[in-house]
Amino acid sequence: MRWIKLQLRFLVPLVAVLALVAWLALPVLDRLTLRWFARDLNLRGALVANTLADSVSEALADPRGRRLPALFGRVVQDERLVAIGWCSPKGELLVRTPLFPQWLNCEMAEQATQERSQQLSIEGGPVHVSMHAMTAETGPVGQLVLLHDLSFIERRSQDTRNYLIALLAGLGVLIGLVTMAVAQLSWRGWMRGTRALLRGEGILTPPVAGAPELEPLAADLRARLRDLEDEYRRSRPQDAVWDAPQLQSLLRTQLRGDQVIVVSNREPYLHERGEDGQIVVRRPASGLVTAVEPVMRACSGTWIAHGSGSADRAVVDRNDRVSLPPGQDEYRLRRLWLTPEEEQGYYYGFANEGLWPLCHVAHVRPVFRESDWQCYREVNQRFADAVVSEARSDDPIVLVQDYHFALLPAMVRRRLPRATILTFWHIPWPNSESFGICPWRTELLEGLLGSTIVGFHTPYHCKNFLDAVDRYLEARIEHEHSTVSYRGEQSLVQSYPISIAWPSPEAVAAMPSPAECRRRIGAELDIPPDHRLAVGVDRFDYTKGILERLHAVERLLEKHPRWRDHFTFVQVAAPTRAVLEEYQAFQQRIEALARRINQRFGAGGRDPVRLLARHHEHDAVNRLFRAADVCLVTSLHDGMNLVSKEFVAARDDEQGVLVLSRFAGAARDLPEALVVNPYHVEEVADALHQALTMPVGEQRERMAHLRSTVREANVYRWAGRMLTDAARWRLRERVSLRVQRQHEGGWD
Ligand code: G6P
Repeated sequence: MRWIKLQLRFLVPLVAVLALVAWLALPVLDRLTLRWFARDLNLRGALVANTLADSVSEALADPRGRRLPALFGRVVQDERLVAIGWCSPKGELLVRTPLFPQWLNCEMAEQATQERSQQLSIEGGPVHVSMHAMTAETGPVGQLVLLHDLSFIERRSQDTRNYLIALLAGLGVLIGLVTMAVAQLSWRGWMRGTRALLRGEGILTPPVAGAPELEPLAADLRARLRDLEDEYRRSRPQDAVWDAPQLQSLLRTQLRGDQVIVVSNREPYLHERGEDGQIVVRRPASGLVTAVEPVMRACSGTWIAHGSGSADRAVVDRNDRVSLPPGQDEYRLRRLWLTPEEEQGYYYGFANEGLWPLCHVAHVRPVFRESDWQCYREVNQRFADAVVSEARSDDPIVLVQDYHFALLPAMVRRRLPRATILTFWHIPWPNSESFGICPWRTELLEGLLGSTIVGFHTPYHCKNFLDAVDRYLEARIEHEHSTVSYRGEQSLVQSYPISIAWPSPEAVAAMPSPAECRRRIGAELDIPPDHRLAVGVDRFDYTKGILERLHAVERLLEKHPRWRDHFTFVQVAAPTRAVLEEYQAFQQRIEALARRINQRFGAGGRDPVRLLARHHEHDAVNRLFRAADVCLVTSLHDGMNLVSKEFVAARDDEQGVLVLSRFAGAARDLPEALVVNPYHVEEVADALHQALTMPVGEQRERMAHLRSTVREANVYRWAGRMLTDAARWRLRERVSLRVQRQHEGGWD
């Protein structure tokens, strides 16, 4: 039925068009035939006149004037010639044959010949009038008036009309039949082809069988779509200031309120049991949490993470869920519990002894154990199952965080093929050579390519990732569009530099002034007011360059004795992954070095290096940032490093100097910092000295630039850009699905 209706939709307009053509063409055709015949009759008339010329001259010589009527009487025997008249040179009608109308004189005949149609109506029907002058040696002798029958023209014109109508009708029927047959035969192939090309198939896989004619069209269409996407991406204003409401509106409008599920290993809040037995809530030291938590507050949704706090189980409901932030209930956390063996193999083992050193290239050898890998796979599967069970529809937006879940994207993709999976790799991606030492490099890449979008902090990390895909997988990479097609699925690989949420005016107003912060820190740590203060805030991790930083402090004190007893360096080092030997050894080395420096340069019972190896809450860190003259960020390798951005955000007084490692992703975003090579102790010591002696005006100028960058390139923009790209992707998927549904609804 539906098929017939669609065919009628085509045939009715076709018939209408043909009828219109006929209606417009027939009068034009009539006029044309008349003009052709008139021209023929004029020629015929001229021929008759020429033929009669001699006979007429002779007949005129007859003094009785009888020969001319007799001659004309013979001539009008011709079936086409109705009547003949003879006009004298003065315009008098001297002779006329019987059917020549009584009312027609020479003047009227002359007028009729001037008209375009040369037509007159007489008793027997329409006639064509033509006049032909005749001359003798003496000059003009008169004019022959010939009236030709026109009724045969009407008859012929009617015949032509009938033929034309029959021809158009026949043509219409033929076109209709051919079209219906072609549509019927090729619709199936076309539908399959359209669906496939919208899915992006035919790049690696051969084009849809039976529709090879679609391949050029598919390629064109795909190229056009990608060009449009690239154009769109380039045209987006980069400097627009994003905030939480803007992100919410993006979710409502472009993503139509789709469910957001975040997956990370580290949870945003830990519930711990204090010494007094009371439960306390703690924010973990994690750049990932710093960035993603404000986004989650804006988006609501569900965050799935490992429940690692000692009192985590005590606060969840029977589905292991808890609303967060405490007391504000803006999103919910679903906690997953890991056995000590799982935690050892997946988290400490494969993630932190294998992938972490592999990706950071910080000269710590990665360790790859088969048993860790098994654990990693199993835990990834457990988290993937949790994503599926938390999903309320078959196409949620899943934000996968970091190197703990390289396999999860493909696992979710298998169960929820229509999910939009955005995976963000928060740490660097090494060059393909270094990456290649991982025994499971292929599996890791395949797992990540289950994502719709794979995001990194910098274009350089994207390039390294694409190089690895190129080297270790049979995938097709389109560098121009930054896409990878692997086994019929396509992923976008893009850089999205992460950031922090810019503090609200209320939060800034609630902070103590920098002078007050300096006074408090001085009192807490016994730092005299005339000391210059440098700070470092990190996890106790070998990638952070804490050792190199301490060497630089030592070198500063060696090179510039003026700073002895006039300078204090405070290093906050939050304990992390302390179960691992590498981390324990690292901590011991730092402590030993700090002791040595303090022994060398301590004066008046005061240590120039203060090592605070414990967790600090956000407010305490903020006070330290506001009190400091210098912040040292000297990572040996870092995806981004958000400490640098938090320091900048804390300095609304536009004072303080940031010394920043060129091997942190943040160095790209913050060029107004003093950018250093952390391995070069002398250079860092000089930068530290430069920072301590930098004039207030220069500090203000640099800090003002840094602050405007971080305010604009904040974490809502990071999330907004990724979600906008995802929205485009989903739109494309939905169009594809609609085509598929239409196809299944009766076209097959
Ligand atoms: C880095 C990683 C995060 C991790 C954080 C803290 O920033 O990218 O995924 O959460 O370190 O490490 P931890 O092992 O304590 O979670």
